Parts: sequence; C-alpha cells; structure tokens
Amino acid sequence: MTADFERNHRAWDARTAIEAAGVDVRLVHLAGEHTPFAPASFDVVFSDHGAMSFASPDATIPEVARILRPGGVFAFNVEHPVHALSWDDAANGPSRALHHPYFTLDRIDDPLDGSVNFARRISTYVELLLANGFTIERMLEPRPPAGTPTTYGDFATEAWARDFPAELMIRARRTAG
Ligand SMILES: C[S@@+](CC[C@H](N)C(=O)[O-])C[C@H]1O[C@@H](n2cnc3c(N)ncnc32)[C@H](O)[C@@H]1O
Repeated sequence: MTADFERNHRAWDARTAIEAAGVDVRLVHLAGEHTPFAPASFDVVFSDHGAMSFASPDATIPEVARILRPGGVFAFNVEHPVHALSWDDAANGPSRALHHPYFTLDRIDDPLDGSVNFARRISTYVELLLANGFTIERMLEPRPPAGTPTTYGDFATEAWARDFPAELMIRARRTAG
C-alpha cells in the first residue's frame, strides 16, 4: 500500500468520520460471516470493499439475508472479476492480458502480504443472491471520468480503470425468505 493510501485511511477511520459529522452511531467490530444480531434487525446492509471482499460470499450473503428485514437493501462492491483475471503476479498489478482462468475464480491468497481476497464470477453473486431471497435491482461497473484522482494507485491506475472495470457494485433487495 502507498503512503498516501495509509494516510488517507487513517484520517478517515469510522470513529473520526462519526465525530466530524456530529452523529450518534454505535460501532461494532466483528466478522461478517457470523454476527450476533437478531434476524430481520436491519433496514440496510452495506459493504464497501469490506466483508464481501475478504470473506466468502457463500457465508456472508446468507448472513445478510438473515439479519435484513424483508424489503431491506443490501449494497456492496467487490473487485471486478476482469480486474482479478488481468492481475499479473510478476508485476503485482492489473495488466491488459488475461492471467487467470475465469471459471475457477474464487479465493485469492496474496503471498506478498498474506491477505485473502474473494473475487467470484458475476453469475456466482447473482445466483447466491437469488438463492437467498434477494431481487437484484442494479449492477454497476463504474468507469472513472478522466482525471479522477485515486488513492488506490496500486490497485488500478487511472489509465487501466478507464479501459477496464476495477470494481463491481450490486444493489439487491430482500424480497423473499
Ligand atoms: C479495504 S478496507 C475498506 C474499508 C472501508 N470501506 C474504507 O474504504 O476504508 C477492508 C475492511 O474490511 C474489513 N473486513 C475484512 N474481513 C472482514 C470480515 N470477515 N468481516 C467483516 N469485515 C471484514 C476490514 O476490517 C477492513 O475494515
């Protein structure tokens, strides 16, 4: 990670942001695969490159379905499979060629920093959401406007992200189950 990334994330941790906004929010730090919350206790579940990226969606999506009330919204983003497929291990960055097979995309273990990341086929997210009682309302592959600054330069440069999708965003609603 770059020094800019570290600085940016330290400056905007949740506690600092809550204080700056002057709002009263309860923070709970836990793993998203299994939570202690009662069934149907949330209106919205949101993950921004969080539990949906670093835990298996086989575990997180059923857990979200359990804790969302009927009609509740689930919004999340993950690494786009195109980004994962293009990742060049030797260069440690996304490339303009395919380096990995699509059909076996799953858990990615990074030997450099020991991190674990999940990037699944788009159809896997669709099928898991449908199987857990969600209706998919939107699916976005954002393209940054030219000149967009990034603190994620080692994830994707602006030039790369102008040509290929770096992230996949999904909004789903719990409509059944
Ligand atoms: C790349 S950060 C993104 C956080 C935030 N959205 C941001 O932009 O600063 C990844 C976050 O995922 C969280 N995380 C990783 N594994 C998790 C899991 N199994 N359950 C819940 N959160 C997890 C980490 O604690 C971290 O806060």
